[in-house]
Amino acid sequence: MINLTINGTEHQLEADVRTSLLDALRDHLAMTGTKKGCDHGQCGACTVLVNGRRINSCLTLAIMHEGDDVTTIEGLGEPGNLDTMQESFLHHDGYQCGYCTPGQIMSATGMLGEVRDGWPSHVTDKLDGQVELTDAEISERMSGNICRCSAYPNIVDAIRTAST
Ligand code: FES
Repeated sequence: MINLTINGTEHQLEADVRTSLLDALRDHLAMTGTKKGCDHGQCGACTVLVNGRRINSCLTLAIMHEGDDVTTIEGLGEPGNLDTMQESFLHHDGYQCGYCTPGQIMSATGMLGEVRDGWPSHVTDKLDGQVELTDAEISERMSGNICRCSAYPNIVDAIRTAST
């Protein structure tokens, strides 16, 4: 039995201890908003937040996150009540096919939290305490999220707008 807290709700899973967090979400909890692209840490489609920090859910075991707060795209907003980052992606057409979009939005949300928290400090020091990110800084911090349609300019526009 694996105990997980997802978007504030506790779940008990009858799952093998080798189950990744991504497979736990998709296959055991039917939370398919988190996408599987590469399944080995290269595309970012599976990004979720663990205690507010973004991770690739394909690279970590679900059982390692007992006691953590896991946030998925389903936990941000819902149709008719989207959160700021979701609204901004919608407004700026920050997608084409949409497959990478949940991961992009979760990563962008986590990234802005990192900047606001001054984490990690060695990167924040380089920004001299600056909170407003340049487009180049947004692109660098989002480099773990691949968009095969190459909607990057609109994705950066969406994140810049949501960050201000
Ligand atoms: Fe996890 Fe690609 S599915 S990084």
